[in-house]
Amino acid sequence: MTLTSSSAASLLALTLLYFSISAYPCFAKCHVDDETGLLAFKAGITQDPMGMLSSWISGSDCCTWNGITCLANKRVYGLSVYEGTDPIFSLSGTISPSLSKVQYLRGLNLQNLQNLTGTFPTFIFNLPDLNTLSLDNNKLSGPLPLDIGQKLYRRLVDLSLSQNQFTGPIPSSISQLIHLRNLDLGSNLFSGLIPSGIQQMKHLVFLNLEKNQLSGKIPDFFTPLTFLRKLDLSHNKFSGEFPPSIAFLAPRLELLDLGYNLLTGKIPDYLGNFQKLDRLDLSYNQLTGVVPKNFRNLTDILYLELGHNHLVDPFPEMIVKFNFGSLDLSYNKFNLGTIPKWVESSTLIQSLKLAGCGLKFRLEDFKPSEKHFFNYIDLSDNQISGTPVGLMNETTLLQLFWASGNQLQFNLSDLRLPDGLKTLVLARNQIFGKVPQNISRLEKGDLSHNHLCGPIPTTKLPVRAFIGNDCLCGSPLPPCRN
Ligand SMILES: *[C@@H]1O[C@H](CO)[C@@H](O)[C@H](O)[C@H]1NC(C)=O
Ligand SMILES: *[C@@H]1O[C@H](CO)[C@@H](O)[C@H](O)[C@H]1NC(C)=O
Ligand SMILES: *[C@@H]1O[C@H](CO)[C@@H](O)[C@H](O)[C@H]1NC(C)=O
Ligand SMILES: *[C@@H]1O[C@H](CO)[C@@H](O)[C@H](O)[C@H]1NC(C)=O
Ligand SMILES: *[C@@H]1O[C@H](CO)[C@@H](O)[C@H](O)[C@H]1NC(C)=O
Repeated sequence: MTLTSSSAASLLALTLLYFSISAYPCFAKCHVDDETGLLAFKAGITQDPMGMLSSWISGSDCCTWNGITCLANKRVYGLSVYEGTDPIFSLSGTISPSLSKVQYLRGLNLQNLQNLTGTFPTFIFNLPDLNTLSLDNNKLSGPLPLDIGQKLYRRLVDLSLSQNQFTGPIPSSISQLIHLRNLDLGSNLFSGLIPSGIQQMKHLVFLNLEKNQLSGKIPDFFTPLTFLRKLDLSHNKFSGEFPPSIAFLAPRLELLDLGYNLLTGKIPDYLGNFQKLDRLDLSYNQLTGVVPKNFRNLTDILYLELGHNHLVDPFPEMIVKFNFGSLDLSYNKFNLGTIPKWVESSTLIQSLKLAGCGLKFRLEDFKPSEKHFFNYIDLSDNQISGTPVGLMNETTLLQLFWASGNQLQFNLSDLRLPDGLKTLVLARNQIFGKVPQNISRLEKGDLSHNHLCGPIPTTKLPVRAFIGNDCLCGSPLPPCRN
């Protein structure tokens, strides 16, 4: 009896073992909840032209599916289906709330899929481990949940929702996300004020609110945000003066973009202490006064954009270590006279915009130490005389050249157009001769109001690009008389 009972017990044990093996026929398979959640996500996708989810097949190990990463215990912790910014890698459809079954998910990266629709995915509130949410560049819309901060405060370090169509205010509860290092809400339709509680987010490294409809003053709350390296508030409706506490960002800040707002007052002196700054954009505001002398100390600056303000002379003599990627001083109240020596001696300028800067010199006398890297030159609306023939002969990478509204006087037949030139704007000068054949390559251009004569070569440019000359003829102007 005992023997029988013992063999019955071992039979039972064997049977249990057998069943536990057959219930999990393969130990290397992902958890059934993860598979269910991911297949529900796939079911919400209506178009997948590049087959990014084609490996997501029921019954196969979901840890091997495209874009899925698993922990050692075979639980899914990462979902990243994107291949780059090419529009062909798009997914259309909605984000299924059943993804909340993927309970160990830490990173949900669905950026650049272009065509995911719906509202903010509140099911993520049920994912206790989520630390990264990237939904940039889709078509998500509607307001953010007002309690987003309370619901997500635990672990989130990266919240990226840029390039969607989210509306309404930035919920003030967002400031409870005190572990965030990256907050990117750029290129949406957010309106209202910046929540002042953001100053609690002491770990922020990157704060991007560009291209929204935010307004009011920029809060004076930067004192505790000493880890901040990039601050982009451009293309909004912020008004008022620079908040003094921005001065506390001096040790680390690399990018400060406040362009395209309604800021008034002076450029503060303390900006000259920002030793790490490589990009400063204050263009398209209403700033007044002089550019502080200590801008000389911004030796690492690569992009300095101060155009379209009301700034006055004298402009400080800069000391530039790495040269400029881009310099824009256009349309202020400067009277520079000649192109400053520190610009001329810079060896790597890609974009030089000095339109409406009170320049008065012969273009032949502009002898930059390196011409090769220019791709954009704008010298419009100055009193520049002479000819650009020498300059354009050597600026082989030039794509855009603007110099309308000057006193240039040269034979257009002598102008060699760089191979990559797309835009040539020379309206309102004293240019003579014929329109060269190579003009046919231009995508954009304006030669109006000069002294040109003769037949116009085949061109995509509209009639207004040729009006006001002495004797031009042929399409798009009336035909030539023989
Ligand atoms: C985006 O989604 C809409 C609606 O589902 C669809 O008509 C359109 O073709 C999709 N666009 C792309 C680029 O996939
Ligand atoms: C530049 O910085 C140095 C110290 O780093 C300082 O002594 C000097 O006064 C500054 N120059 C200007 C013009 O502020
Ligand atoms: C243009 O450059 C070529 C050589 O690169 C030179 O021979 C020629 O004289 C230049 N023309 C002008 C007008 O500078
Ligand atoms: C016109 O363009 C061709 C091809 O880019 C180039 O070889 C030629 O030198 C150009 N001619 C003039 C006059 O710019
Ligand atoms: C412009 O230059 C071309 C060739 O260099 C020459 O034939 C022409 O006469 C010049 N036109 C004028 C108005 O000087």
